[in-house]
Amino acid sequence: MITKVIAHRGSKGTHPENTLAAFKEAVRVKSDGIELDVHFTKDRELVVIHDETLDRTTNGTGNVGEQTLEEIKQYDAGSWFSPVYQQEKIPTLKEVLSLLAGYEGLLNIEIKTDKIAYAGIEEALIGLIEHMQPTCHIVYSSFNFSSLKKIKAFNPKAEIACLFKMNNKQTKLFSRTTQVAFWHPSIQWLKTKKWLLLFPKRRHLRVWTVNKEKEMLFCYKKKIAAIITDYPEQALAVRKTY
Ligand code: G3P
Ligand code: CA
Repeated sequence: MITKVIAHRGSKGTHPENTLAAFKEAVRVKSDGIELDVHFTKDRELVVIHDETLDRTTNGTGNVGEQTLEEIKQYDAGSWFSPVYQQEKIPTLKEVLSLLAGYEGLLNIEIKTDKIAYAGIEEALIGLIEHMQPTCHIVYSSFNFSSLKKIKAFNPKAEIACLFKMNNKQTKLFSRTTQVAFWHPSIQWLKTKKWLLLFPKRRHLRVWTVNKEKEMLFCYKKKIAAIITDYPEQALAVRKTY
């Protein structure tokens, strides 16, 4: 089994994260999968951005959830990274799915409900995916397991994945009661070696954020299912040498 390479927030290390430019790059380098983050606007549109606020990655300020899509679309989501990307806007999930039409890799949608509540986001997400019928394989992940439960309730066939950092007690409990397909731990957790006992077959782990060559090689050798990396092009090149 070959370890898959998933492009974190598009190709976060080389392009402005969670923009169409970053997703095009992930496709260009032939990433096996793409990861992105979704929030909900005031007028209930699914938008692709990592933070709860606009401040770090755009020239806007304030909470994503307190502004309409029209307001959010005015902001520049690329200049903070480089002036080359000043035309980039915060994409809607629908725009990303349209861009990825024909892509047959994995699309990992992280529901960003761990720090903020968005009433109805899970239902909207399932509705959009059913409507768009993407060619890519959809995986829903979240640090908030109640969001994952809702996804399963709306679509029992949906693939859900638990995100966790160091403490996985909650994850284990949740996994007993829900059909969890994959676990997405941090690379820091993988370094603790507890994983060797808990996941001896390594087939159900997708690890983030794996940016160092040494860590990439470690995951490849251990046959981890996938790495989520800011540098997909480099990770794919390293995989060829292994
Ligand atoms: O999906 C893995 C990773 O994206 C989770 O952390 O903060 O980068 O969204 P974060
Ligand atoms: Ca994420």
